[in-house]
Amino acid sequence: MGADTKEELIRSWRFKMDVKIAPSILSADFGRLNEDIKTIEPYADLLHVDVMDGNFVPNITIGPCVVRKIKTKLPIDVHLMISEPLKYGPEFAKAGASMISFHGELFESDKDGLVHAVEEIKKLNVKVGVVLNPDKRLEIIKPVLDKVDFVLLMSVYAGFGGQKFIPEVLEKIKDLRKIFSGDIQVDGGINDKTAELVVKAGANVLVAGTYIFDSKDRKKAIESLKR
Ligand code: DX5
Ligand code: ZN
Repeated sequence: MGADTKEELIRSWRFKMDVKIAPSILSADFGRLNEDIKTIEPYADLLHVDVMDGNFVPNITIGPCVVRKIKTKLPIDVHLMISEPLKYGPEFAKAGASMISFHGELFESDKDGLVHAVEEIKKLNVKVGVVLNPDKRLEIIKPVLDKVDFVLLMSVYAGFGGQKFIPEVLEKIKDLRKIFSGDIQVDGGINDKTAELVVKAGANVLVAGTYIFDSKDRKKAIESLKR
């Protein structure tokens, strides 16, 4: 006998899901990016690339020309913290992204716009994800949960690495896991302690920058997150 309710079914899938680790290059040394990537590549599952435009968030990072120069066997997971994901999404896909996510709150009062944006990113032959900052409600992204490959829940406010984990996100992860069977990424303030909390809540992809790249033993750091 299998699980009967949708909720039980989703829960049973969850236990079969491996925890994946996505090191965020925001904390790497941009002057020797490819060398730094080599140090985590054998142990990681995805390479998380934070794109910031100085408009949607106050910080500016990198564009498609840098992504094009990244040498890695890992799938490149581009997290767009920009005001115009549809304008720049194709450039990142061409530059080598395998996954592209953008912030759902850009379409907070425009459900059709959100659906359209997801469909457009999907056409780029990448996995598509929607992101929410800690103060944004799941209601915003509910219209696209059956269309996206993954959801990224921010556990800090998008814009900078090295911030402190916001524990209120745990309830949101639990609520999302009840209604969504795809990958749930969590991003911000992830370390060996917070990793355990978010996985218990239902997340299965952990994005971590500072904890991995500032660690003396990056292999060990990644393994401690998987545990
Ligand atoms: C923050 C970025 C994160 C950041 C996480 O806006 O989206 O990916 O790199 O960094 P840590 O792990 O240092 O909180
Ligand atoms: Zn990120």
